[in-house]
Amino acid sequence: MSTTVAAPAQKPANKTTEILTISDAYGAHNYHPLPVVIESAKGCYVTDVDGKKYLDMLAAYSALNFGYSHPRLIEAAKRQLDKVTLTSRAFHNDQLGPFCKELCELTGYESVLPMNSGAEAVETAIKAARKWGYLQKGIEENKAEVICAKGNFHGRTTTIVSFSTDAQYRKGFGPFTPGFPLVAFGDAAELERTITKNTAAFLVEPIQAESGILVPPDGYMKQVRDICTKHNVLLIADEIQTGLCRTGDLFAWQHDGARPDMMTLGKALGGGILPLSCIVTSRKIMSVFTPGDHGSTFGGNPFACAVGREAINLIKTMGLGQRAKDLGEYFRSKLKALNAAPIKEVRGRGLLIGVQIKPEYGNARRFCEAFMKEGILCKDAHEDVIRFAPPLVIEKSDIDWAMDRIGPILTEMPRV
Ligand SMILES: Cc1ncc(COP(=O)(O)O)c(C=O)c1O
Repeated sequence: MSTTVAAPAQKPANKTTEILTISDAYGAHNYHPLPVVIESAKGCYVTDVDGKKYLDMLAAYSALNFGYSHPRLIEAAKRQLDKVTLTSRAFHNDQLGPFCKELCELTGYESVLPMNSGAEAVETAIKAARKWGYLQKGIEENKAEVICAKGNFHGRTTTIVSFSTDAQYRKGFGPFTPGFPLVAFGDAAELERTITKNTAAFLVEPIQAESGILVPPDGYMKQVRDICTKHNVLLIADEIQTGLCRTGDLFAWQHDGARPDMMTLGKALGGGILPLSCIVTSRKIMSVFTPGDHGSTFGGNPFACAVGREAINLIKTMGLGQRAKDLGEYFRSKLKALNAAPIKEVRGRGLLIGVQIKPEYGNARRFCEAFMKEGILCKDAHEDVIRFAPPLVIEKSDIDWAMDRIGPILTEMPRV
């Protein structure tokens, strides 16, 4: 042991600055987070490394629908940690089968293919749709197309950014995967005109969240459902962000009663504790996958499945959909009642809410930074939309507390 007394280190201004400096130096700069460093969290509230408390109104882009550290999820995770966490799919484990069964019972579908991230679930859906196109629809080999909506966000893999219409997601990452015609979101007639004999599927978010909480015209999903049925095209709903009660229904497609042939799920499915995603579909469609076609080392691991099973239990028992519906309406009405000059529009469904800012008041991030100083965390979606998507366990009193702080900022923010 050295006896040399080290010179006292330069004391950083605070822990936040210290961690931000380290992150900046050693981490990739592929995100532009708000400058808050979270150390712990419970329910809807987080505490930063300097002891400041914030109300989280983002919920990890809807992954934290149950709030932070829900005791039943934590208990399920701890129980499984002590048993077995990973088996790979070379062997069976005792959690995956029951997870699939319980998810089928919840969703009304027949078969589940588990993965980890949302992007992987979308990749899985694309592979399933293409192979279905060849095997069951009779599309000529290598001609299958999956139509997507302009303004989509389905993840960040090379294939998925191939059909993004956001220039930044694509710039510098080509060449891209072909086979993804694009149509305007909300325009069912254009979808019908774009369908050919090579169309295997239409992949769509029931509400485009990342694009700025864009809600399509009422009935759109139903029209899309009918068109897909008429032309023997699979309807794939990406419910990764909108699903599991976020918009007031268990799934956002239920608003129009337009049951898709397949859904991608993720985010809240892992209880906000770990990554867990999947596709759910019919046994017939899923039968296109045979051993060796597709997989993932961690996909279907018993740790994630045990937490996922508890998440399913909570979905069944907590009444989160009704909460999202009631509190979403309440929150939106409060925001609208501000009649704040910077606000162009307040929109959304359930607790997925977008506040669009007029260009003369700068970008949405400017507002998010001001909210942060007042103890409220949320994030811009697109340049000009503030996204509010709090944990679904939020209380009316939390919304009132937030409104007391958000309100004055929204009404008094000067033009740029
Ligand atoms: C609709 C939708 N699909 C897919 C994804 C990708 O999920 P992940 O970030 O887990 O890959 C997201 C993420 O925000 C999403 O909102």
